[in-house]
Amino acid sequence: MSEILRKQFLRHVAQTSPAPQLIEVERAEGVFFYTPEGKPYYDLISGVSVNNVGHGNKAIIEAVQRQVADYMHIMVYGEMVERPQVEYAKLLADTLPDPLDSVYFLNSGAEAVEGALKLAKRYTARTEMISMRRAYHGSTHGAMSMMGAPEGEEWKNAFRPLLPDTKAIRFNCIEDLSLITERTACVLCEPVQGEAGVVPPQNNYLNALRERCSEVGALLIFDEIQMGMGRSGEMFAMQKYGVTPDIVCLAKAFGGGMPLGAFISSHEIMSTLTHDPVLGHITTFGGHPVCCAAGLAAMRYLIDNNVVVDVERKGALYEELLQSHPAVKQIRRNGLLLAVELGSSDKLYRIMDLFIEEGILSDWFLFCDTAFRISPPLVISDDEIRDSVRIITKCLDRL
Ligand SMILES: Cc1ncc(COP(=O)(O)O)c(C=O)c1O
Repeated sequence: MSEILRKQFLRHVAQTSPAPQLIEVERAEGVFFYTPEGKPYYDLISGVSVNNVGHGNKAIIEAVQRQVADYMHIMVYGEMVERPQVEYAKLLADTLPDPLDSVYFLNSGAEAVEGALKLAKRYTARTEMISMRRAYHGSTHGAMSMMGAPEGEEWKNAFRPLLPDTKAIRFNCIEDLSLITERTACVLCEPVQGEAGVVPPQNNYLNALRERCSEVGALLIFDEIQMGMGRSGEMFAMQKYGVTPDIVCLAKAFGGGMPLGAFISSHEIMSTLTHDPVLGHITTFGGHPVCCAAGLAAMRYLIDNNVVVDVERKGALYEELLQSHPAVKQIRRNGLLLAVELGSSDKLYRIMDLFIEEGILSDWFLFCDTAFRISPPLVISDDEIRDSVRIITKCLDRL
């Protein structure tokens, strides 16, 4: 990277941490991205679970090019009939369990969460909103209010006041379900916790949560922003666990690499947003036709190429190849999302440096800085899994 580019990046592109990785990207293909010097990196983050269909996927490129040539932005969301939105909404309604058949498109995950919270308040006419400890739902004020406490206090405290009448309960804890009451508008829950360091549900927890919400009339919102679109080994994690929420939030891989989010509910619940007041939730760019065309092409690609069927096997292969290394204390996994536990943040920071040296892009988790993430594009081949494990092992050996 040239010194000028590096300086301009640091000076003019707003930073989110004091130590950005500073790797220049020239192009990306499949499970790799390349620097201008031609150094390949295995992308084991996938833009944080975004590039499920792989970089440079021809189906997505063609869909985007076609849509860009036809039309881009016309009018704020919900006013005009735009074919990419309608076709994507229909495919989602056909794939998701009943009665999830009404899709509100937005631009990002945090916005999907914001919309879902507003819908729940509006539909139930209640105000209390419950989330799970060690949950991450986005960085806007509303989504951040739902970040699990007390672990999230490090972030939340700096930005108060946030939304009132929110509280966090323990994920997988049946006892805490009694904290959900007739006052509760909604419970927001990732069916598999991502940023907590990959924590799957246990002991029928999601069924019990569903039952408790129905009992007291609170809406159950699933945040499938990280796990949806195949990462869990089913198209949606709710299908893996056989539990249907009242609202589901999608983003990340949902846009096939373009910025797109949505909250999806039944026609009955969603229709409350059309009145009292009208235009109570609106967006200029939400459901942008180019993003919908990309997302639709990505979902069709997953279906037509049976990509999701192989996800569990590929995740298990990573687990099998890594679990016996002495530096690995534990592997927590759901589909193709793995947290490889090293038991120490010092080791974690060290291995991140070694990964960069050896050509692996990985990451840790917001609420778990002792484990590294493996969440490659779902299209990764068995040979690529074995080869990336060879490099990871080389780095583990050097710890
Ligand atoms: C589970 C979950 N929900 C919500 C979000 C926020 O999505 P976005 O960054 O698109 O606002 C994320 C992002 O990491 C996430 O992992």
